[in-house]
Amino acid sequence: MKWLITGGCGFIGTSLIRTLQDEGGHYIRVLDNLSTGTRDDLALVAGFAEKNSAQLTANAGQVELVIGDILDETITQAVASGMDIIVHLAANTGVGPSVEDPRKDCMANVLGTFNMLEATRHNQISRFIFASSGAPAGEVEPPIHEELPPHPVSPYGASKLAGEGYCSAYKRSFGIDTVALRFGNVYGPGSVHKSSVVAKFISQALDGEALEIFGDGAQTRDFIFIDDLTRAITLAATVENIGGETFQIASNHETTVSEMTRLLVEILQQTVAEKINVFNGENRVGDVRRNYSDITKARTRLGWKPEMTLREGLEATINYFLNKRTNK
Ligand SMILES: NC(=O)c1ccc[n+]([C@@H]2O[C@H](COP(=O)([O-])OP(=O)(O)OC[C@H]3O[C@@H](n4cnc5c(N)ncnc54)[C@H](O)[C@@H]3O)[C@@H](O)[C@H]2O)c1
Repeated sequence: MKWLITGGCGFIGTSLIRTLQDEGGHYIRVLDNLSTGTRDDLALVAGFAEKNSAQLTANAGQVELVIGDILDETITQAVASGMDIIVHLAANTGVGPSVEDPRKDCMANVLGTFNMLEATRHNQISRFIFASSGAPAGEVEPPIHEELPPHPVSPYGASKLAGEGYCSAYKRSFGIDTVALRFGNVYGPGSVHKSSVVAKFISQALDGEALEIFGDGAQTRDFIFIDDLTRAITLAATVENIGGETFQIASNHETTVSEMTRLLVEILQQTVAEKINVFNGENRVGDVRRNYSDITKARTRLGWKPEMTLREGLEATINYFLNKRTNK
């Protein structure tokens, strides 16, 4: 298959590319503006050729990287040419940045997603996978599932909900098999640049800094390991009769941030044997209190289930962070 992966230099994008490269037989093109991902991140998982949009050839076996923005309509149309599937990962990620700058979040996540769907339509591409999140559901009684009426709390949740809305519309108006995947809190190797809680806490602990839990730590999250997540994306790319659907892709475990932190600190202290201080700070605007997902639909329709336990996943993530530092 010929894959266009937007945001392919990022955490999830590079992990997906590694999975596809391991499988073999795929052609991969990446569109990324390098706002957070880097050429070096991509080089860790694949050899690539950097091209401008006039030089694209789609040769099997060679990843093509186009540096560009999903807000640039001309580039999005050009990079989609000849592709079989688009996995749309590029975004303004996370709640905090969306509260700080809601307009930027809206531009990237609403207009950027719209541009990619238009590129899909004009290039007769049959499948489009959209990286959504638990955030559209917002402040609801968990477990979150696909049929709950959404009540976003943050601008990020609102912009991802808009993306889901356009995906639904492009299936029903234009017949494109759009699939919206609502990722839980993704963690794992490859996340060194991320500011999500697991990655941030590991970096801070290894730097000898104290870990600040926002609020009392009783807020819950659903932590999903990166390899489980990329398996869900590849299934969503191939399973039949799922066009226009949304899926919760998470672990189905409700874990408080305090519980996760205790486990992380326990493993870190066994590994690096240092005292790690943890303290509680202020609540953060836009954060929901409880968040975990019912994944029945993904189990039944995609044939997917998560395999990694939180302990195993945290151990693998810490090892990755330690190796990164050793090999700097
Ligand atoms: N990591 C998570 O826990 C998580 C959870 C839910 C949803 N998601 C979604 O998954 C997707 C990927 O997340 P990630 O964790 O890999 O993030 P990331 O920041 O590591 O990667 C995003 C990539 O997109 C690129 N990018 C950003 N804005 C762009 C733009 N306007 N044009 C072109 N490229 C752009 C960045 O340079 C980066 O390489 C995002 O859509 C995010 O909202 C992530």
